[in-house]
Amino acid sequence: MLRICVCVSGGGTNLQAIMDAIDAGTIKNTEIVRVFSNNKNAFALERAQKHGIDALAVSPKDFESRDQFNEAFLAAIDEVEPDLVVLAGFLVVIPAQMIQKYRNRIINIHPSLIPSFCGTGYYGLKVHEAALERGVKVTGATVHFVDEGTDTGPIILQKAVEVLPDDTPKSLQQRVMEEAEWKILPQAINMIANGEISLQ
Ligand code: GAR
Repeated sequence: MLRICVCVSGGGTNLQAIMDAIDAGTIKNTEIVRVFSNNKNAFALERAQKHGIDALAVSPKDFESRDQFNEAFLAAIDEVEPDLVVLAGFLVVIPAQMIQKYRNRIINIHPSLIPSFCGTGYYGLKVHEAALERGVKVTGATVHFVDEGTDTGPIILQKAVEVLPDDTPKSLQQRVMEEAEWKILPQAINMIANGEISLQ
């Protein structure tokens, strides 16, 4: 059984897709052992609780320094001894110490086709605003391992999504989620849980 900890910051639709896929059996041999949020008001926490999953919120605002928050964050992950940490709309920079400790055991979903529209400053709606501004006709989503850089780790899965002429950032975000993110994130977890991914 792959023990996963899912980290969230907001609405938690990707978390929902993971929980639904586990229930439906499309993610096999996987258990969510904790949902962690840096935002106490994240709707994702309610989704976890409704599902009977341990949900913990620790906010940076409750600490005097970033280092103190990072320590508490790492402790909250260590406590449940996960095999894999899944960043599902998690808008916190992962501390270097955690990347070292969980090397190749942290994955992230990003709402574009990396290397386009990624890196520092590209998150959430901003990614889709940038894609529309540039006028790309195809965008999508990427699941990748997390390394020390921002969105630079090895790519696991990508899925393309067409940009439509009348798209707004919101409509594009919704379609990228429905057509790409909610599919490839569960798929990547299932592949890892069942030994279908090896890093070279
Ligand atoms: C998702 O679109 C995810 O790809 C994005 O935040 C959204 C969270 O939605 N993540 C990033 O931009 C990370 N760089 P959700 O809370 O409904 O899953």
